[in-house]
Amino acid sequence: IADTSCDILFFGALGDLTQRKLLPALYQLERANLLSPETRIIGLARDSEPTESLTRSEANLRRFVAEAEIDSAALQRFLGRLQFLDIDFGVAEDYRALRSLLDQRPGSTRIFYYSTAASIYGMISAHLDAAGCIDEHTRVVLEKPIGHSLESSHEVNAAVAQYYDEAQIYRIDHYLGKETVQNLIALRFANNLFGNQWNQNHISHVEITVAEKVGIEGRWDYFDKYGQLRDMVQNHLLQLLCLVAMDPPSDLSADAIRDEKVKVLKALRPITDDIRTSHLIRGQYSAGQIGGETVPGYLEEPDANTSSNTESFVAIKAEIRNWRWAGVPFYLRTGKRMPEKLSQITIHFRQQPHYIFDPEQRKLAENQLTIKLQPDEGISLQIITKDQGLDKGMQLRAAPLQLSFSQAFEMSRVPDAYERLLLEVIKGNQYLFVRRDEIENAWKWCDQILEHWQDGDKPLPYAAGSWGPEASDAMLAADGRAWHEHD
Ligand code: BG6
Repeated sequence: IADTSCDILFFGALGDLTQRKLLPALYQLERANLLSPETRIIGLARDSEPTESLTRSEANLRRFVAEAEIDSAALQRFLGRLQFLDIDFGVAEDYRALRSLLDQRPGSTRIFYYSTAASIYGMISAHLDAAGCIDEHTRVVLEKPIGHSLESSHEVNAAVAQYYDEAQIYRIDHYLGKETVQNLIALRFANNLFGNQWNQNHISHVEITVAEKVGIEGRWDYFDKYGQLRDMVQNHLLQLLCLVAMDPPSDLSADAIRDEKVKVLKALRPITDDIRTSHLIRGQYSAGQIGGETVPGYLEEPDANTSSNTESFVAIKAEIRNWRWAGVPFYLRTGKRMPEKLSQITIHFRQQPHYIFDPEQRKLAENQLTIKLQPDEGISLQIITKDQGLDKGMQLRAAPLQLSFSQAFEMSRVPDAYERLLLEVIKGNQYLFVRRDEIENAWKWCDQILEHWQDGDKPLPYAAGSWGPEASDAMLAADGRAWHEHD
């Protein structure tokens, strides 16, 4: 990989994402000697005074990279390959200077990273094309959100597709770059123990929780237009659901994996009127306490529109209509201002067909596999054992078998998702990126939920620092279940 040289160009180079995440991620690749000496990193921004932009980027790198990870030799090498170009993305002539810069390296791989509003992806692509900047060695990375509905995502995708083939397009869902998310593929397909059990004969239900402690962090304008369903479910939670539910791909190629994911999305049962109240909960946080600190409610956030019906919490009982998963609910839950930051998947295995122990203990007798994505990445398998001690007879208890990745593999740091994703773009591997039909099928399923909400449906209040509206617990209780307890 270190000999794969390329030009990586960021549109929106002074924006929050590039400064906070993307440049620090590339710096980490530099530190790990994963960038070729010839690779150039070019920031493109409007009104960018190149020296000032460099100084600002260096200051931000020092801010967003942990002090212990600043290696001055690597930092100097990194800054040496970073340059800025002042360009107005809407002005065709401005792309000439970019073309000259690219012409210095004929035949080299170009990676355009669009870290701007998706509404201008088409325009940028058209200007790049007119200036002769797109060739067969070009790749383009598209940041989310790609649209806010099936129709608008279709427009963005269609505009970009006029200039790039699908094989050149890398749509980001940063959850796919997380170590433990990739590990789902290893866990499922490298372990026969699980491979054989992964279906409705053995699994009763699946839970996926992605909880955040933070609120909307000053992003009212963006968030209020999107809400939690578009911001988190349409992409991250559905991707996790696909990785848990998909059939084994025939190999690890990008399209083999993505073909299987699309089949899952197409098999999702629409949340129609008759099941809406039993399958869908929508919440909005009110003021509350998190870790002893009082935080404002959603409608009291700076810039808030006080009559907003936007949701900051969603719980869904999703069902997959196929042979593998018939009758196995996938309970999805995601929210802002929850008690802790926690992303985890719990697979609940069915109970024994014939029970020989004290019936009182039956509620214990369920194996659960929990995959913790963050924090403290790891896997834990709840098994049922005999309680220790002479006086215990055949009394049972549940106990976990734990695998903590940081302890088991002596990992001093978990790489950020963007490090992995940028590395895969440089290598030209699309398996961690979302194909057009995936994103469009995910929107299709979410659109039918959103259409109903447009009719003025109000979210249920929940206090910041709680696990969402009570109705979310009631949804599982109606099936005789409860959300997995937290460690
Ligand atoms: C982003 C959402 O895609 O994911 C944010 O836009 C959210 O609202 C973030 O906070 C969560 O990502 P992570 O990696 O911190 O779980």
